[in-house]
Amino acid sequence: MQRLDGLGGTPPPSRQTSQDGKITARSIQAVRGMNDILPELTPSWQYLEDTLRRVIQAYGYREIRLPLLEKTELFKRSIGEVTDIVEKEMYTFEDRNGDSLTLRPEGTAGCVRASMEHGLLHNQLQRLWYAGPMFRHERPQKGRYRQFHQIGVEAFGMEGPDIDAEIIFMTAQLWKALGLKGAELQINSLGTTAARAAYREALVDYFRGCLADLDEDSRRRLDSNPLRILDSKNPQMQTLIGAAPRLPDYLDVESRVHFDELRNLLDAAGIDYTVNPRLVRGLDYYGKTVFEWITDRLGAQGTICAGGRYDGLVEYLGGRPTPAVGFALGLERLIALLEAEGVDLPDSSPHAYLVLSGEHGVRRGMVFAGELRDAVKGLRLLTNCGGGSFKSQFRRADKSGAAVALVIGDDEAKQGLVALKSLRGESAQETLPQADAAGRLGKLLGLELNA
Ligand code: HAM
Repeated sequence: MQRLDGLGGTPPPSRQTSQDGKITARSIQAVRGMNDILPELTPSWQYLEDTLRRVIQAYGYREIRLPLLEKTELFKRSIGEVTDIVEKEMYTFEDRNGDSLTLRPEGTAGCVRASMEHGLLHNQLQRLWYAGPMFRHERPQKGRYRQFHQIGVEAFGMEGPDIDAEIIFMTAQLWKALGLKGAELQINSLGTTAARAAYREALVDYFRGCLADLDEDSRRRLDSNPLRILDSKNPQMQTLIGAAPRLPDYLDVESRVHFDELRNLLDAAGIDYTVNPRLVRGLDYYGKTVFEWITDRLGAQGTICAGGRYDGLVEYLGGRPTPAVGFALGLERLIALLEAEGVDLPDSSPHAYLVLSGEHGVRRGMVFAGELRDAVKGLRLLTNCGGGSFKSQFRRADKSGAAVALVIGDDEAKQGLVALKSLRGESAQETLPQADAAGRLGKLLGLELNA
């Protein structure tokens, strides 16, 4: 199986000398942390994407397609100057006009930018979703890549906890539709900007009191982004963090009421969750509700879905005040989880393989294949190309995973017949009129016919 982690070992030298002394260029490899998704894996991706799309659209969310490149300024302002993403992880470059552009590290900023630019937020409620690759120059490891894929959902114009609940219900529904069971929901409220400012002050006071015990990262964050200290994974910091002031104690009344009502809605829907007061998220635009779905089956990179409310962002980017909430799913991690949980994925092998021989057989067969695909709904039919003896064509048919081989030679072509042989099990070969083949195949494979 291909390695999804992009940890391909030491690259070979750029030129190599063969035994006869010739110098040859070495082949070029993918950029570290950016994966090819090979045909053996794409059926799982398609299953995942189709299922997610179906569920998200069942909630009335509409797709928006966004550029991969945005002006660097957009991410700096949205995600925050003092975040890991903006400080260390963006793929930023100057284009030929000297403009600073960045490959999107996430989708929310672009979605807000586009929605503002096209007037989608003015006096309207919007429920949007998007999909595609995101780019972060992180240290690659299992579950963490430099190009990874997200499906994101954003809802604009609704300030109550009901929309927070709706998108959390949606995520729970997504796991159900995918057949995933092992994820745990964690929620928290970050409060309003004012509440967070008060909490921030208390945190800074507390950490200043134990400056000598802070690691380098935390010291750096003390002035710029002290809440992120709580996110530190350094084991030596954990006791200190454990005794730090707690965000819930600083929540304003408005945020507390919002959060309590969200909890009531989740309880009423029977959705299990844990309140994690240390959940702060790595992007600056959040306020009030934040949440993550976490699994312990994927090692260190166990967050499969994350999001929350960002009521201030639209205004901060120059729009009218617009409440907003959303989340994004990490598709690589979901694929890994589908595998880890042993979820049965739909078979994507061809149903049937058409063996062809003789000049008439090939001519008629290629047309007949098209007729069959038109007639049988969802039929995956491989036509033999490139000739070959019956034996080698049957070998290819077997290897393709098809359940049925169809055969048209010159005789069958002239008589309007086709031979049909099951490739799984022992049933005898049968010969039937080509006109009856669609009906017979449909029955055999459990596929419907087109009207
Ligand atoms: P995020 O937490 O940065 O949030 O990313 C969301 C999800 O993307 C993560 O939970 C994870 O599954 C996946 N992910 C992130 N980085 C990587 C990586 N390097 N390799 C593989 N997967 C990764 C956001 O991006 C926000 N825009 C979510 C949001 C939407 N909030 C409101 N609306």
